[in-house]
Amino acid sequence: MNKKSIKDVEVKGKKCLVRVDFNVPMKDGVITDENRIDGAIPTIKYLYEHGAKVILCSHMGKPHNIFTEGFDLTKKEKKALEELPENERAQAKEEYLKKALKDKQKFTLKPVAERLSEKLGKKVTFAEDVVGPSATAAVSNMKDGDIVLLENTRFEAGEEKRDEELCKKLAKFCDIYVNDAFGTAHRSHATTAAIVEYGYAKTAVCGFLIEKELSVMADALENPVRPFVAILGGAKVADKLKVIENLLDKCDTLIIGGGMAYTFLYAKGYNVGKSLLDEEQVEYCANMMKKAEELNKKIYLPVDMVTAKEFPNPIDAVVSTNTCDIENMPSDEEALDIGPKTIKIYADAVKNAKTVIWNGPMGVFENPLFAKGTFAVAEALANTSATTIIGGGDSAAAVKQLGFADKMTHISTGGGASLELFEGKKLPGIECLNDKN
Ligand code: 3PG
Repeated sequence: MNKKSIKDVEVKGKKCLVRVDFNVPMKDGVITDENRIDGAIPTIKYLYEHGAKVILCSHMGKPHNIFTEGFDLTKKEKKALEELPENERAQAKEEYLKKALKDKQKFTLKPVAERLSEKLGKKVTFAEDVVGPSATAAVSNMKDGDIVLLENTRFEAGEEKRDEELCKKLAKFCDIYVNDAFGTAHRSHATTAAIVEYGYAKTAVCGFLIEKELSVMADALENPVRPFVAILGGAKVADKLKVIENLLDKCDTLIIGGGMAYTFLYAKGYNVGKSLLDEEQVEYCANMMKKAEELNKKIYLPVDMVTAKEFPNPIDAVVSTNTCDIENMPSDEEALDIGPKTIKIYADAVKNAKTVIWNGPMGVFENPLFAKGTFAVAEALANTSATTIIGGGDSAAAVKQLGFADKMTHISTGGGASLELFEGKKLPGIECLNDKN
């Protein structure tokens, strides 16, 4: 990687503003997946062990902004408010404020500060705001080796708007800017890129997590040991247009599962019944299959599937299922998982690979009736000697849920970010950092 890292700069005695991705899933105030916290620990440890003042910042969820502007309405809320008769607006505003205050409890990073402190066996001071009096006091009381975690950066209206004033205020906490938030590196917000781009952080380097994520994933994409198999799943073709195109250029075999497979099958002339079909992308799918032929590459699509008359509601509801070959797809049924013949073909392709990347489930894996395909792919990856890379998001969750996490070479901490990397895009949170000389 051609970007400077924390090892390339002297951090002793310096205020290091470290952008991490602590946007972790929570249930009833308890963190349910700590991967992102664990991922940030090597950088945090290195910094405090080398005498830096470590000021951590992160967003969490998509809350209302509640600091700078009192609270900030979403576009939808603003429109709804405008449409109300004038005498009802004050009351409605009150309700929104209540909601915003609830967001403050729901999206606070306080539980993360507590958990991080337990994991490090070291005090992590939590600031109750981002650049307000609590943060200012916490930072000014820091000694070398201390750690402060600022409150959720998205409580500030300026975070997502790349507000220069917010960057200026944050710069007071920043002799050195460190980005280790791989999961948020595809966002161009105040704390992920703008603070550096506006010139408020002249020294801007990456942490170990970003370094590791990039070296594993960029290496696999640029210099894969072949055969290189890419597995793509998920619901919509439209979400993965550039990923499909870019991966087709780089891999030897592209395996497609999940809802998106049915637009490809439709483009091949099959009846896909009530399965997900993105009519606008039929031509695109046909073009990709033509391109694969020209490049002498393989695209694997399901040859059989598990179907149901209705999508389960709730998602894990028991429904009656049917297994059929694609040629016999019933017109009134929807494919919700790949079938046993397809599983065998996909698992064999993985067995013969030397590099595999996977993004997106093969079916509705949240329901045990439709989880076999995703499970089988995860198992095939767990049993191969190939380098196995799991993009974040649903496939990472599936691998963990199925107990195969420690069998994979790398599970990314970034769903959206790894997808953009697979698209061949540059990530603003990484682009803005100082180049190595
Ligand atoms: C993620 O979970 O993908 C990152 O933390 C980015 O979050 P966002 O999609 O809310 O920007």
